[in-house]
Amino acid sequence: MSKVQVKNWNDFCPQQLFLYGTYREDGTPNFGLFCWFSYLYAQQIKDEGPGMGVMVSIGGEKLTKDLIRKNGIFSANLVTEELLPLADYYGVVGGREHKDKMRYSPTVEKGVVLNVPTIAESPVSMELQVFQEIHLGNNNDVFLCKIMGETMREDLTDKDVPFIDRFKSVKQVLAGGEQRYVSTDGRDLGAWGEPMKSL
Ligand SMILES: Cc1cc2nc3c(=O)[nH]c(=O)nc-3n(C[C@H](O)[C@H](O)[C@H](O)COP(=O)(O)O)c2cc1C
Repeated sequence: MSKVQVKNWNDFCPQQLFLYGTYREDGTPNFGLFCWFSYLYAQQIKDEGPGMGVMVSIGGEKLTKDLIRKNGIFSANLVTEELLPLADYYGVVGGREHKDKMRYSPTVEKGVVLNVPTIAESPVSMELQVFQEIHLGNNNDVFLCKIMGETMREDLTDKDVPFIDRFKSVKQVLAGGEQRYVSTDGRDLGAWGEPMKSL
């Protein structure tokens, strides 16, 4: 099969979805949906503390970015099929514009290491501290962060169960391309803005 030149960016290179959790000034949580997220190893950059880190790309000005800048810390909570309607809503409804955005809420817990809101229903939550912000211009910014704490659903740590079975039990949601949500076993889970209609 020959290949053709395209400009469709990351279609067919799916990205995992996360809900970033921050506390607003009044102490209430805010969540936003994000997929431009990847891992980095930061030991060489700052040699104290844990070396595992992440890079997150935030385009445009939004409440999550305001609060990450102000607090320097936030959480990243893995999105599952169960969380998708809520996650989709958090991705479509802006926190700056909609003061009542959090009228739909998951079960919010506090991080184990950092003072960040985490989501009980999410099987994996990372607690992140920003160590560098890179301005790319036009309000596009990348935040480099250290993973200061992480919690995981207890059964996922049971190494007596084969990894692939634990992996399948998570039911992660991917941003697959063409603005559609896709399951890890290849099912279409709807277009952006559709799953939230079931809330
Ligand atoms: C599937 C999906 C993925 C998204 N990924 C990102 C992302 O990686 N970076 C970004 O800046 N915005 C992303 N967004 C948009 C934010 O979720 C949106 O701006 C939201 O309003 C952020 O919440 P906030 O306004 O409370 O900060 C995504 C939206 C959707 C629907």
